[in-house]
Parts: sequence; C-alpha cells; structure tokens
Amino acid sequence: MVEIQNLTKYYGNKAALRGISFTIKENEVVGFLGPNGAGKSTTLNIMAGVIPSTGGTVTIQGHDIAQQPVKAKKCIGFLPEIPPVYPDMKIKEYLYFAAGLKGIPAAKRKGEVEQAMERLKLKDVEKRLIRNLSKGYKQRVGFAQALLGNPPVLILDEPTVGLDPTQLMEVRNLILDLKHNHAIILSSHILGEISAVCDRIIIINHGEIKADDTIERLEEQNQSGLVLRLKVQGSSREVPRIARQVEGVQSVENIQFVSTGVYTYDVKLESDAVRNALLSAILQHGMEVLEVTTEKQDLEQVFVKLVNQKTKHASLEDLLQEIDEESAQNEAPASETGTEPGAAAPQEEEE
Ligand SMILES: Nc1ncnc2c1ncn2[C@@H]1O[C@H](COP(=O)(O)OP(=O)(O)OP(=O)(O)O)[C@@H](O)[C@H]1O
Ligand SMILES: [Mg+2]
Repeated sequence: MVEIQNLTKYYGNKAALRGISFTIKENEVVGFLGPNGAGKSTTLNIMAGVIPSTGGTVTIQGHDIAQQPVKAKKCIGFLPEIPPVYPDMKIKEYLYFAAGLKGIPAAKRKGEVEQAMERLKLKDVEKRLIRNLSKGYKQRVGFAQALLGNPPVLILDEPTVGLDPTQLMEVRNLILDLKHNHAIILSSHILGEISAVCDRIIIINHGEIKADDTIERLEEQNQSGLVLRLKVQGSSREVPRIARQVEGVQSVENIQFVSTGVYTYDVKLESDAVRNALLSAILQHGMEVLEVTTEKQDLEQVFVKLVNQKTKHASLEDLLQEIDEESAQNEAPASETGTEPGAAAPQEEEE
C-alpha cells in the first residue's frame, strides 16, 4: 500500500534522512519512533507530499507522490505535527472548508463532516471557535480533518500529544477501529504510548532506521534474557570473573558500591535455570550472597538502547546482541543529539 525507497532529505547541507526504506501494508498500524530531531516529521511530511524529498521514492497505492501528487494525495489522510487548523473558524465550519480543499464533492461533504465529528466526539462542540479549544481538542479536530473522504492511508504525526488519559484511550480505540481497511503510520517519541496499538515499530534516529520489527518480537527479545541483581559480600573483581565462568551467564554489568566489601551486580542469564549454578559458584568461592532480585528491563529501556545504535541491523536479535556486548565493555550511554522541534509547514492542499 505504501512503499518508501531509499528516501533522503537534506536541509541545506544537513542530512535529515539518510536513505530510509520501509513498506506499510493494508490493515497494518506502524509505530514510527524516535527521539526529537530523529527525522520522523520529515519522513511523514514527505510521505504526505507536503515537502519534497532530496532523493528516493514514496509510492502510495501505486502512485508516486512526486510524479502523481494529486492521485497519491487522494489516498492520504494526514495529521501534521501542528494540526492545520484555523483559529478563527468554528469546528464544523473548518471541517467543511477542509472537505472542500480535499476535493470532496459538495453533496458528500455533510455526511463526511458529520461522520468525522462523530468519530472524534466533536459533535457537542461543533460551534466552538478553534482558537478557544484546548490542545487535545485541536488535536482531535486535526484528526477529524485527516479522516475526511475516508482515505485508505493515514499518516499521523504524534496524534496522542496533548491528550489526557481518557482522550488517549479514545484515540487508541479509534486507531484500532480504523486499522481495518486502512494502512496507518503514527509517530511518537514514547514507545509505551503507541505499543498498545501498533503491529510493528520502526525506530529511527539521526535519519537512519535502527530497527523494524513487530511488537511481539521486540517483547520476546526483551524477555528472553533474565537479569538478576545480586548483592554480594566479596571482591568486586572476583565476582564478575566467577559469574562469567558459569555456563549461561551472558554478561555482568552495572557494578555498584554499597558498603565496604559489598557490591551489587546485574547479571544477565540465558534463562532462569542458570540461577542456581550461579549462586553455588559464588558461594563455593566463600562469598556471601546477601540479596537476589530480578531486574526486568522494560520496553522503554530497550527503545532507548535501540535509538542510540549507530548502524542498521538485519534483525533485532543482532542489534540486542551488539547492545549487550557494547554495554558490557562500556557503561557510558551514547549522547542524544536531538535539536529543535521540526519546523513542519502546515499542510497545504493544492487540489
Ligand atoms: N525546515 C527545516 N529546516 C532545517 N532543518 C530542519 C527543518 N525541519 C527539520 N529540520 C531538521 O531535521 C532533523 C529532523 O527533524 P524532524 O522534524 O523530522 O524530527 P522529528 O523526529 O520529527 O523530531 P520531533 O520529535 O522533535 O518532532 C532535525 O535535526 C531538524 O532540526
Ligand atoms: Mg516531529
């Protein structure tokens, strides 16, 4: 349904996208994740035909966005990062206006506007001026605008920003509902916020794709290694050495001083079955294990690690392995180079 190939974008001589490729199928919700300045809005704006790319192609339902913009844009509903709403218009008035801009025939506009307001629960406030709306309501108006004409491809740039928990739930349910017969991509910099609705996630940073995998695979990977936090009385040089000799111990890291001769260690095990062998090995060397707790790495931590990777990996597995190796050698996190928020231009329909 949507195919992106080797997309690049330069702002002046600054690379915002360095050759990214991915596809989105029908009935698929893809989460597009990355920190500030990663290139999310740039990608989505190019996909929606709002800004041109420097190189590469975007094909929507077989139409190239640069070569056949009118046909391609007919298939797209776009919610830009800054909702393209006019402050001096009332909600309903604005939606009629937007329906006109989208080329929806006059006879169909009423039905389309009513349906969009219904879906976004805007009926009760349809006569309110957009300027007086809260951020969450403005976001909903922008979302309603994207749905006009029932386009099969939805491109949503941070659709959950500014929503309160109830609105967040409603938007999640709406996306799940829209998933049938749509292809959806939505961006966010918070994994937890969208993991509930996405089938797949693409992680981008510094204009490169760092991972592209299903949520299930990501979660599986995440749970496959068990991390035990041990508090041990004994030499902080000996404990890692002994632990690493036990079969099934993958890494020992995050060594923290507690008190004289007492340290904590995060020991990553292949599985829970390794636990006893590890504890006996330490005890056999005459050291005392004072405490054992299970550390669960949450998805958010994995996301932060993925984002900080420098190269694209064939699979999440490769990536996670490399992360382990790296963190074993070096505890320092990679720096965040996100800069100012994107200056995405509001959508301007030329049709
Ligand atoms: N119009 C512009 N002119 C120059 N540089 C830009 C422009 N728009 C974006 N950039 C730069 O391109 C990079 C990618 O920006 P983009 O807005 O795509 O990031 P993002 O992932 O959407 O970030 P955020 O989470 O803050 O919305 C950033 O370094 C940004 O500063
Ligand atoms: Mg953005």
